[in-house]
This record gives sequence, structure tokens and C-alpha cells, in this order.
Amino acid sequence: MKKVFIFLGPPGSGKGTQTSRLADKLSIPHIDTGSLLRKNIQDETTLGKIAKGYIDKGQLVPLEVVSSVIKDRLMKDDCNNGYILDGFPRSIEQAHELEKIMSEIGKFSLKNDALAVYFDIDNEILVQRLINRRSCPKCGTIYNLISNPPKIMDYCDICDSKLQTRKDDNEETARLRFETYEKETAPLYGFFKEIGILKELKADKPISEIWENLKNIIFE
Ligand code: AP5
Repeated sequence: MKKVFIFLGPPGSGKGTQTSRLADKLSIPHIDTGSLLRKNIQDETTLGKIAKGYIDKGQLVPLEVVSSVIKDRLMKDDCNNGYILDGFPRSIEQAHELEKIMSEIGKFSLKNDALAVYFDIDNEILVQRLINRRSCPKCGTIYNLISNPPKIMDYCDICDSKLQTRKDDNEETARLRFETYEKETAPLYGFFKEIGILKELKADKPISEIWENLKNIIFE
């Protein structure tokens, strides 16, 4: 089985939802650049101050910021047996940066050890998903008011914390995120295909069905 899993897909396609399940199943970390950047913003770090303006506009945060965040995270010991990348790389430039980081820290190689899973879904249904997303600030569980609501409105089923709405989950910023995705991130589909590490997953199905299909891809 591969050691590094890269989840590729438009905003709201369900990457985070499925990554959490896979991370639990494989006992490897779920590394989500969006959450790492939001934590930097919350902690008011220098990197967070730079990232905020880009995230609020639905744009990609500059390479040097993301690269520093991801390299620090991949160097930790819990990544020694593998890891799942959700939201990185997000451009061809970032894919080359990932290859460089992997080689520098001596943890796996893109061509030999990675599998990229593309979440295939029509963008039109995704804006509604994003507007209705709620997440737990404490344990990270993701809900959806329509497709996957918490048992008690606004509170996490797992740890009872009050759920939050992400600042960039409004219709205007969501549409900007889709534009950025099409321009910068969608070309990665061809890049991963070309180097022979791409698998496709139909992401317009119920969460449990996607999970079964994902396991088939990972364990085949
Ligand atoms: P990030 O946090 O990575 O956001 P994203 O890529 O836009 O992805 P999302 O988290 O919105 O969606 P998801 O696919 O994980 O969906 P989820 O499972 O939550 O990035 C935010 C920002 O940070 C970027 O815009 C950028 O500015 C910056 N950034 C991040 N990484 C960067 C990088 N590498 N370089 C530069 N900048 C970077 O599901 C969505 C909703 O749908 C949930 O409510 C869920 O419950 C529901 N749902 C999930 N699956 C289903 C299903 N099958 N059916 C029905 N509902 C479902």
C-alpha cells in the first residue's frame, strides 16, 4: 500500500470528511493546510497575518508561507509512517515544492510512494454544501445542516462544543474559491495522471458510499 495520500478536489467536495475517516483507519495524520493556516490566524502569528488577507479573498496563500507550514508539519515524527495531504499541493508549483520537501526531509517520494485521489463532482451543488457546513473548533468534526446535521442543533455530537461557521463559507467567497480552484488547482489532475499516481472517486454520492469506494481504491 502507498504511504502518502493526496486528496484533490474543489472546495466542499468532501475531502476533509473522508480524510478524517481514512486517518483514523490507517492511524496516520490528516494534514490539512486550510486548518493549519486558520490556526496560525487564530494564534495571530506572522504567517497567519499574511495568510488572512488571501483566505478572506478566496485566493491561494503565497508559496513560501504554505511551504513553511507544510514542511514544519511533515518533519514531525508522526509522519514517519505516512500521511494524508488535504488541500496541498494546490498548484503545479506546489507539487514541485512537495517533491522538493519530501526529498529534503527524506520522507517518501511523490512518484513511488504517493497516491492522488481526485474527488470528481459538479461545482454547482458545492456552494450549498459550503454555506451549510459547520465544524467543531475542538475536535474538528465536520457537519452539514442538510446532509449531515448534528443531533443537537449547533453542538458537536462528539465533544459538545459549540459549532462554528468558517468565515470563508459565504456565497461570495465560495465563488471566488471555485475560480481559484479552476485556474490554479484543476491542472494538477493532468499532472498527477501524467506521473501515474491518480485515481478518481465519484464524490456526488452519500458520505458512507464514498467511504466504501475510497477504501476500495486505497486497499486495492
Ligand atoms: P481549505 O480549508 O483547504 O478549503 P477547501 O479546499 O476550499 O476545502 P474545504 O475544506 O472547503 O472542502 P472539503 O473538500 O474538505 O469538504 P468537507 O469535507 O468539509 O482552504 C481554505 C483556504 O485556505 C483556501 O481558500 C486558501 O486561501 C488557503 N489554503 C489552503 N491550502 C492552501 C495551499 N495549499 N496553498 C495556498 N493556500 C491554501 O465537506 C464540505 C461540506 O459538505 C460539509 O458540510 C460536509 O458535511 C458536507 N459533505 C461532505 N461530503 C458530503 C457528501 N458526500 N454528501 C453531502 N454532503 C457532504
